[in-house]
Amino acid sequence: MNRRANPDMPSCGHRGGMDIADTLESALALTRGDVQVQRFNCLGCCDLGPNLRLSPGGEFWHHVRVDDVPRLVKRLAEFDQET
Ligand code: FES
Repeated sequence: MNRRANPDMPSCGHRGGMDIADTLESALALTRGDVQVQRFNCLGCCDLGPNLRLSPGGEFWHHVRVDDVPRLVKRLAEFDQET
């Protein structure tokens, strides 16, 4: 969700992170009431953002777009079966 004041430094908040989180929360509310979206200020890989991470112990997703949300919800179902 980070929105750096310096436009020369990348930050997920300036690249659509809030819209992605909102869209993901809406999708999960309809399909996966047992999954929560936690919003973080920074995951430490700003150049690759917007970023998200499946948890616990999950993978990072980089360059995420709102259009990726359906694929992400599907991946969460696969992730459940793997853990
Ligand atoms: S602002 Fe998104 S990883 Fe740093």
